[in-house]
Amino acid sequence: MPKQKLNVAMIGYDFMGRTHSNAWRQVTRFFADIPCEPVLKVVVGRTKEKVAEARVRLGFEEAATSWEEVLARKDIDVVDICTPGDSHAAIAIAAAEAGKAILCEKPLSNSVAEAERMAGAVKKSGSISMVCHNYRRVPAVALAKKLIDDGKLGTIHHYRGVYLQDWIVDPNFPRVWRLEKARAGSGSLGDILSHTMDLSRYLVGNPVEVSGVLSTFVKERPLPDGSGKRGVVDVDDAAQALVKFENGAVGYYEGSRFAPGRKNYNRLEINGSKGSLVWDLERMNELEVCLDTGPLGGFTNISVTDGSHPYIGAWWPAGHIIGYEHSFTHTVYDFVKAVADGKSPRPDFEDGLINQRVLDAIERSAAIGQWVKVP
Ligand SMILES: NC(=O)c1ccc[n+]([C@@H]2O[C@H](COP(=O)([O-])OP(=O)(O)OC[C@H]3O[C@@H](n4cnc5c(N)ncnc54)[C@H](O)[C@@H]3O)[C@@H](O)[C@H]2O)c1
Repeated sequence: MPKQKLNVAMIGYDFMGRTHSNAWRQVTRFFADIPCEPVLKVVVGRTKEKVAEARVRLGFEEAATSWEEVLARKDIDVVDICTPGDSHAAIAIAAAEAGKAILCEKPLSNSVAEAERMAGAVKKSGSISMVCHNYRRVPAVALAKKLIDDGKLGTIHHYRGVYLQDWIVDPNFPRVWRLEKARAGSGSLGDILSHTMDLSRYLVGNPVEVSGVLSTFVKERPLPDGSGKRGVVDVDDAAQALVKFENGAVGYYEGSRFAPGRKNYNRLEINGSKGSLVWDLERMNELEVCLDTGPLGGFTNISVTDGSHPYIGAWWPAGHIIGYEHSFTHTVYDFVKAVADGKSPRPDFEDGLINQRVLDAIERSAAIGQWVKVP
């Protein structure tokens, strides 16, 4: 029986547009039990020629330059937001009002006020919503979640999460949109620490109090337009926070794009009363687990590539590793199932709002130099 089609409109077509369109294309081919068939219906951008080129390259049926017009179309079921944070709220709220299912890139918004309006809009319309914190869907991370939920680590005491990159350490690297508060909302905080924090909420629990430090090392950079003029950097280059969780665990987050040699070092370590686990995106198919602290115990390195592991059954035989892009395929797989079930997957816009409140608390704490409670 042919599956019901789900027409996807994707806004933005660069980095995340490429990962998402790849995921929408691949998901039907590998996940045989997917309940609906996503169709790459229309890609939306601002420049006619560029979006026309993206349509061909990414495999969409149509290209458009007005997301407002596309959202008004009755034949669009899903709106996939792959633009910078300054446009998330307007697009998502309009999509909710038009009754579409919404997948939105992280962080959900540039402010708590915007996130409140977005969460309110999907609550009112009953739209399916999801924030693309794709690392929840890396098989090794999903296995870590299962081990913790099954009590294998006992009571969780520590969460240590770092997300380190080095792409702006050169002071002459241009002031791209990620370095502008009006466009990105924040720097490392929203860009990468938001993933570290979302993973802590997934694996450990909700942060209730934070003590943050934000640093900007290079305060002016060349504008990317080649004019030779310089522009102000008004976001953090590095963000750090000590964290207290509601369940009594304590932790640490660090996000920096000033860590030479670290390309996409998204690493977490969790210590519980019975054991520990470690995961690092740059070795994403492995999960280090210690369940025995005796003289012959220590960390075991599990190759999370067995058909019994989360999501892996859809791919290759054991040991035939998967990559970064698969985390997005798993995300859209769960999203499509949720659309068919009529219930939002996690993290939904309510999670996105909670995440935004934590980011905001870190910012406020850094500004006043004191611990701040997460509302
Ligand atoms: N999940 C992840 O791991 C991950 C990784 C990178 C980026 N992101 C997030 O994805 C989003 C996009 O980041 P990116 O790296 O793809 O950026 P990018 O600069 O590579 O692409 C942004 C795209 O949005 C388009 N765009 C910008 N403003 C627009 C507007 N007002 N209307 C229509 N199109 C517009 C641009 O033309 C471009 O195609 C951000 O929210 C970012 O934080 C998430």
